[in-house]
Amino acid sequence: MSEDKKTNQFAKHAIAVMKTEKKKISILKLNTMKKKKEPVAWVTAYDLPFAYAAEQAGIDLILVGDSGGMVQLGYKTTNPVTMDEMITLASSARRGAPNTFLIGDMPQGSYEPSSRDAVINALRFVKEADCDAIKCEGGERIIDKVKAMVDAGILVMGHLGLTPQSTSSFGGYRVQGKTVESFEKTLKDAFELQKAGIFALLLEAMPAEPAGQIAKQLDIPVYGIGTGDMVNGQLVIMHDLMGFYQPFRPWFAKCYIPEVAKGFADYIVSLDDHRQVGREHRRDGLLVLAEMAVLKYIEDVKNKVFPGEEYSYAIGDKQLALLKKSEYWKE
Ligand code: KIV
Repeated sequence: MSEDKKTNQFAKHAIAVMKTEKKKISILKLNTMKKKKEPVAWVTAYDLPFAYAAEQAGIDLILVGDSGGMVQLGYKTTNPVTMDEMITLASSARRGAPNTFLIGDMPQGSYEPSSRDAVINALRFVKEADCDAIKCEGGERIIDKVKAMVDAGILVMGHLGLTPQSTSSFGGYRVQGKTVESFEKTLKDAFELQKAGIFALLLEAMPAEPAGQIAKQLDIPVYGIGTGDMVNGQLVIMHDLMGFYQPFRPWFAKCYIPEVAKGFADYIVSLDDHRQVGREHRRDGLLVLAEMAVLKYIEDVKNKVFPGEEYSYAIGDKQLALLKKSEYWKE
């Protein structure tokens, strides 16, 4: 098939998908998807337009990450963002995506001081921003807080590997799980979190093989950002996917705009008179481009095209052989 025909077909397909009714995913479905080896596709979003685009494209989950402190609010790291700011970002995302499973990311300082703080702030995400779940960084060191939130009836997602809120304890933004020590510590933390009752775990910045081992050994779904294709689903930061964040983009993040730009341009010029579309639900601008980019990302995740080797961290043969000798590695 010619490239032109393919892009036109994608544009038509994209517009049709956006018209279908969206239904919120359940944690039972997430567990079934793990069993059936169907990858989950999710993105971050921090405001109405991008959350709307993600929902229209049919995303499985949306994370209102504390990365919003950087990509949306302009802080240099994720650490300055406050709980109040996170609530504003999450509420806005919820209004854009009323039918999508929404996860609020606990910012630094909102859960570490005490279990009481953790429960109160997690409940703020649920009550004030209508989030379905929360995510927090760390393993053993925060296990009492995780248990307290789970006991309060809150759905908690764990986050291990490279955890940006505590990068200074890793000596900067470093890929995790490459050494036996780092792999074993991450696996042990993952089991502790699972025992404490988290519904899913996110791993960040690890080579595919150690991340895949953790996904294989845990019963709950294990997703990844920058962790290769052996986990149960993929997360990408929306502003990386759109090419909207100028300072830097991690190697594992793919911008999808180049792949959908032609289909978008063909679609837009095919509209005769934009004003005849009417005042409501006009589909003649950047929102359509954003929806197309998210849709292409979802297709790539579901078809196991993304992340592939190109967007994954490699591990050397010698290092992998050492990991495989760990008493915790299971073939
Ligand atoms: O804040 C965020 O977006 C995150 C991801 C980087 C995993 O926590």
